Amino acid sequence: MPDYSEFIQKYPAYDRTHDIDELRDRDYPRLDRMGQVYLDYTGGGLYAESQLKLHQQVLAEHVFGNPHSANPTSQAATRLIENTRERILQFFHADSEEYTVIFTQNASGALKLVGESYPFAPGDRYLLTFDNHNSVNGIREFAHAKGAEVTYIPVSLPDLRIDTTSLEAGLETAAVGKNNLFAYPAQSNFSGVQHPLEWIERAHTRGWDVLLDVAAFVPTNPLDLDKYKADFVPVSFYKIFGYPTGIGALVARRSAIKKLRRPWFAGGTITVASVQGDKFYLAEAPAGFEDGTLDYLNIPAVEIGLNHIQAIGYETIHERVRALTGWLLDNLSALKHSTGVPLVRIYGPLNTVRRGGAVTLNFYDEADRPFDIRYIDKASSQVNISLRTGCFCNPGAGEIALGISAAELTTCFIKSGDDRLSYDDFRLCIDNKASGAVRVSVGLVSNFEDVQALLKFATTLLK
Ligand SMILES: Cc1ncc(COP(=O)(O)O)c(C=O)c1O
Repeated sequence: MPDYSEFIQKYPAYDRTHDIDELRDRDYPRLDRMGQVYLDYTGGGLYAESQLKLHQQVLAEHVFGNPHSANPTSQAATRLIENTRERILQFFHADSEEYTVIFTQNASGALKLVGESYPFAPGDRYLLTFDNHNSVNGIREFAHAKGAEVTYIPVSLPDLRIDTTSLEAGLETAAVGKNNLFAYPAQSNFSGVQHPLEWIERAHTRGWDVLLDVAAFVPTNPLDLDKYKADFVPVSFYKIFGYPTGIGALVARRSAIKKLRRPWFAGGTITVASVQGDKFYLAEAPAGFEDGTLDYLNIPAVEIGLNHIQAIGYETIHERVRALTGWLLDNLSALKHSTGVPLVRIYGPLNTVRRGGAVTLNFYDEADRPFDIRYIDKASSQVNISLRTGCFCNPGAGEIALGISAAELTTCFIKSGDDRLSYDDFRLCIDNKASGAVRVSVGLVSNFEDVQALLKFATTLLK
């Protein structure tokens, strides 16, 4: 197997990221102590021990009460929450005059807020790329229910990028004087493709509000909302720095939020609500979009996490991820069985240009038959590798990558009707084709040894 000297010769910039090795030894020692090869950073980031200690310290040294009251413990919690909002805006280079931060449970919670509140009506448009997480796809159900038109822009093989002609044609379809929402991911959680942020302005000038899903992008890339002014930006913090789980945000432009109409009200979201008068008045954002009591004891951990990332620096994180991804791509695609059949088929770009650290693939045997992803899951787990298998909640990219046609899918869905469709039934229905894939994703504290462990595992599948 090619070794470190070959790696560093090919990716010399990795040498400048050794701060992360020291950080890993100091702040993530459990990884090596437990012999864990963690390769699912797109699923979730890992937290540093120092984040936990700092969070505990904040809790131990203060008394926090339920926010939004005048008493001192409540005021202390309110101050923390408001400071964290400011810190998030600063982190994403967003002007507080222009943007606000609505706390949610996760990115999906942020997406649901947009979906249920966007004023879709007959004649309106929801335009989205095939390459999207299901929590973005799910918004189409709100659009359908309210009579808006839903249109998908396809991705093209082999790189799974969006075809520019289809994109331009899609953007030309904004309905004049109507509500038009365009949604795409800054980075695909399936293929790692980074879609251009320049599309935001192109879409704006053609009359679209833009939802930019940055959940898979911001763990290893800086986001500058001063330069790329997306309207709705969902985030999950655990994906960036591992802890806490259960907190996300919708970073949103104040002008775009004005359009949203919430379908209900809850504790904390109104200025006045009356039982006898059957009336309520929604508070302005962010309060009007935050149902009930916020997770005020965990919110301080968000600021600690953001500081942690900033101290390491995106440049270092990005460079490290780029080098390790490149090495994975180079070496995986070179592996061949004695029959000459390549061991892996990678879905997405084969080099590091405009892509992040998620590498999605299937393994094939010497007769070119796909390995069952459940076998790969089991075999890799046995050597302590955490990778992910399935379709990663991104069926659009998966269907194109795996060559599953609309006709095949329609036949399956007609056959099963409204009954539940299990994974096994679905697989049988599409003729035992590979219906899922294996995703290996590197991130913040990945190192050369992690990637080598995966390559070593891959070679055990060779015949
Ligand atoms: C691109 C993308 N969008 C949205 C989500 C949803 O995030 P969550 O499950 O934290 O709500 C994910 C999660 O993997 C993702 O990768």
